[in-house]
Amino acid sequence: MTRPADAARTVPLLHIDKVTKHFGPRLALDGVDLTVRAGETVGLVGESGSGKSTLARLALGLLRPDTGTVRFAGQDPSRLRGRSGRAVRAELQFVPQHPRGSLNPALRSGEAVAFALRLHGTPRRERPEAVAALFHQVGLDPALARRFPRELSGGQVQRVAVARALATGPDLVVCDEPTSALDRSVQARLLDLLTGLQEATGLAYLFISHDLAVVRHVAHRVLVLRNGRVLEEGPAAELWSAPAHPYTRALLEAATGRPATP
Ligand SMILES: Nc1ncnc2c1ncn2[C@@H]1O[C@H](COP(=O)(O)OP(=O)(O)O)[C@@H](O)[C@H]1O
Ligand SMILES: [Mg+2]
Repeated sequence: MTRPADAARTVPLLHIDKVTKHFGPRLALDGVDLTVRAGETVGLVGESGSGKSTLARLALGLLRPDTGTVRFAGQDPSRLRGRSGRAVRAELQFVPQHPRGSLNPALRSGEAVAFALRLHGTPRRERPEAVAALFHQVGLDPALARRFPRELSGGQVQRVAVARALATGPDLVVCDEPTSALDRSVQARLLDLLTGLQEATGLAYLFISHDLAVVRHVAHRVLVLRNGRVLEEGPAAELWSAPAHPYTRALLEAATGRPATP
């Protein structure tokens, strides 16, 4: 299944230009360009160690590149401070691979979402209703807001992480292997949730996975990363029908269990 892009997906939201990043002698990213436009899903695939999470952290401003530039809404995401910085920061959100690790175990799941609302400036009296609305939006019974993360299933915890990301009304959500820790059936329902939220709100995703089978379900455009370099890039439909590189063909065959063309 591929998803057609439409003409509205033209505004550059995230623009990463020729970034390199070393960790000691290890070159994790080597001249990577990546653009995400409003409302689109860009899939980033590659095997473990190819540099995907490093690119995610650069996009989120959690790391700075050695060379090259990262711009979100025209600004350096690692330098978003003050009131205007916070406003931009709210538009850039993250769904991690291991949501249980990213949620405070001492906070009820509703409190975690309420905390994001508080940072966003939602008045205290409006937060309970906003939390319930966000739970509803991600397909969770609002009664689950009273539970601690350990009292929720893996799929439910990941939905709480999505609700927390949505709390600030983001334009872009970076999802780093958001379904990798989940069972296949739970995975599929989370992917449906993410695509449904995009259709409802127009948000964009940078969707990262080592699993091309997962990326196939959500991405309009795909980049294949290998050893810190973009090996291949293109509209999802083209990449699926005519992968240019043998490495992409191998990933595709592994994902589908069928020989890829050509
Ligand atoms: N904080 C770090 N310190 C040292 N090396 C790192 C660090 N983060 C990532 N690396 C290295 O950079 C490379 C890319 O890692 P990463 O971006 O996590 O890949 P992926 O997410 O595709 O598995 C790997 O070789 C990894 O060991
Ligand atoms: Mg990773």
